[in-house]
Amino acid sequence: MRTRNVNTLEVGAIGLGCMGMSFAYSRSRRNEEESVRVIHRAMDVGATLIDTADVYGPHTNEELVGRAIRGRRDDLVLASKCGLIVDGNGNIVPNGRPEYLRTAAEGSLRRLGVERIDLYQLHRVDPKVPVAESWGVLSDLVAEGKVDRIGLSEATVEQIAEAHRVHPVATVQSELSLWSQDQLDEVVPWCRENGAGFIAYAPLGRAFLTGAIGSAQDLEADDWRQDNPRFQAAAIEANHKLADGVADVAARYDATPAQVALAWVLAQGEHIVPIPGTKRIAYLEENTRADTLRLSDVDLILLSDLGRSAVGSRY
Ligand SMILES: NC(=O)c1ccc[n+]([C@@H]2O[C@H](COP(=O)([O-])OP(=O)(O)OC[C@H]3O[C@@H](n4cnc5c(N)ncnc54)[C@H](OP(=O)(O)O)[C@@H]3O)[C@@H](O)[C@H]2O)c1
Repeated sequence: MRTRNVNTLEVGAIGLGCMGMSFAYSRSRRNEEESVRVIHRAMDVGATLIDTADVYGPHTNEELVGRAIRGRRDDLVLASKCGLIVDGNGNIVPNGRPEYLRTAAEGSLRRLGVERIDLYQLHRVDPKVPVAESWGVLSDLVAEGKVDRIGLSEATVEQIAEAHRVHPVATVQSELSLWSQDQLDEVVPWCRENGAGFIAYAPLGRAFLTGAIGSAQDLEADDWRQDNPRFQAAAIEANHKLADGVADVAARYDATPAQVALAWVLAQGEHIVPIPGTKRIAYLEENTRADTLRLSDVDLILLSDLGRSAVGSRY
């Protein structure tokens, strides 16, 4: 696979998101052994940026990734996240207190079975804690050699700039796909101008852009998309026009809709690396082949316009 630089880290142009292997998507479709094989295959084909977080599970996703990468530490760029917790009511809430983040980092290192995490990301800025305080402890972890670089996730450009004044922001991770383009306005340009990489999460629109979701019945009761505005029955119906449009473009390139969705993300900037999530080797192989697909300028505009017609907010 071709490589890209996020910050000064060289990684495969397409990475792998591991969340769905343990979290958020339906439990009945999980398969740990297959997921370990998917992570191995990702490293084999050069999809070297492998993304997890302590809140996925919680904790079980980092344990799974830790098992999968044992003995292969040099074959990947390991990215994890801290700063979100599951509270007593089962809600996911931010905790950006410095003392908590330090404990969280120790836990991530232990579960991942590594001495150093290549990229440690603040999953959300805690509105109760100044970003410079949360960021300050992450920069201490860099100084101590426990973490190589630090990034932010879902932060505003003001928060990113404030953090950058304390310690360089290596990456920003946020949702970017055909139907979630708002990061292109400020954050993606900020990253380009300041030498940071942009990690595009949910680049397949949580599977919708691949054409895999025909109706709300395709989602099982424990699938978190049940609560997502874009996956309500009427929105799915309305958004078929968008998925069909992606499929039409794909047919003209002899590609798949997933590959078109990823090629569109890649075309938004050389400093962007998408991290599609999958639990299946066939999808991993299909997705990673998208790095050779070049869409024409006309089709990029057509796809951007289509994406902007999406019905429903992204959360
Ligand atoms: N920073 C944040 O706040 C944040 C939030 C969400 C996600 N993330 C990260 O971003 C990663 C990716 O996001 P995501 O997994 O939610 O969304 P996604 O990558 O847009 O979509 C994943 C879904 O698409 C399916 N899929 C994958 N390849 C496919 C293909 N070629 N054809 C048809 N279906 C395909 C997967 O199915 P299978 O699983 O069955 O293979 C899964 O249901 C996560 O794993 C996580 O690391 C970060």
